[in-house]
Amino acid sequence: MEMNILIERLQALMAKGGRQILGIAGPPGSAKSTIARGLAESMGRAAVVVPMDGFHLANDELVRLGRRDRKGAPDTFDIAGYRALLDRLREGGPEVVYAPRFDRETETAVAGAIPVGPDVRLVITEGNYLLLDTPGWADIRSRLDEAWFLDLGAEARQARLVARRVRHGDTADAAAEWVRTVDEPNARLIAPSADRADVVIRLDA
Ligand SMILES: Nc1ncnc2c1ncn2[C@@H]1O[C@H](COP(=O)(O)OP(=O)(O)OP(=O)(O)O)[C@@H](O)[C@H]1O
Ligand SMILES: [Mg+2]
Repeated sequence: MEMNILIERLQALMAKGGRQILGIAGPPGSAKSTIARGLAESMGRAAVVVPMDGFHLANDELVRLGRRDRKGAPDTFDIAGYRALLDRLREGGPEVVYAPRFDRETETAVAGAIPVGPDVRLVITEGNYLLLDTPGWADIRSRLDEAWFLDLGAEARQARLVARRVRHGDTADAAAEWVRTVDEPNARLIAPSADRADVVIRLDA
C-alpha cells in the first residue's frame, strides 16, 4: 500500500524525462536503504541505488582525525567526494560511473562496487545527512531533483537498529548502548532537516 504511493510519486518524477536523482533522507533505522532497494527493484535496470554510506571515511583516517569514536557522525564522511559523484552522475555521458558501497559486516566502504551505466534513468541516493544545512552537506540538496524524508517512530527505529546490530554480532547490551549514544544523537540532529524535503513520508511501524 505505502509502497504503491511511493511508486506513483516516482513515476511522476520519471515523467519529467532524462536522468532523475532522487534523495531519500531520514534518521538511522528509518528504512532508507530497504525502501530505496525496493523502489529500484520495481524499476528493473533503469534504476540504481547510490548510498551516501559509501562515503564513510576509512578507520585509519578517522583515527588520524581523532574521530574514530564517532564513526557515522556528519564529519566522518568524504562529503566532497559524494558531491563530486553526484555531479558526475548528473553529467551522464557514455562512461560507466562507479559508486562505492558500504559493507555492514566490516563497516567499511568498498570502492568501485556499484556501476551506473549511461542508460540509468533514476539514481536513488539515500542516507542520513542528505538534507542537512551545515557546511559541506548543505551543497547536496540542490543536486537532488526530488528529496524525501522518512519519518518512523523512535521506538520502532531503535528496535530495528538494535536487532540489526545483534544480527551483525553485537551483544544485546552493546547494541542498545550504541543506539542510545550514537544513533539517537544523530537522529536528533537530522530531524530538523525534514523541512528541506519535498515530502515527509510517515511510515507505520
Ligand atoms: N517494514 C519493516 N519492518 C521491519 N523491519 C524493517 C522494515 N523495513 C526495514 N526493516 C529493518 O530495519 C533495519 C533498518 O532498515 P534500513 O537498514 O533500511 O534503515 P536505514 O534507514 O537505511 O538505516 P541506516 O540509517 O542505519 O542506514 C534493517 O535491519 C531492516 O531490515
Ligand atoms: Mg541504510
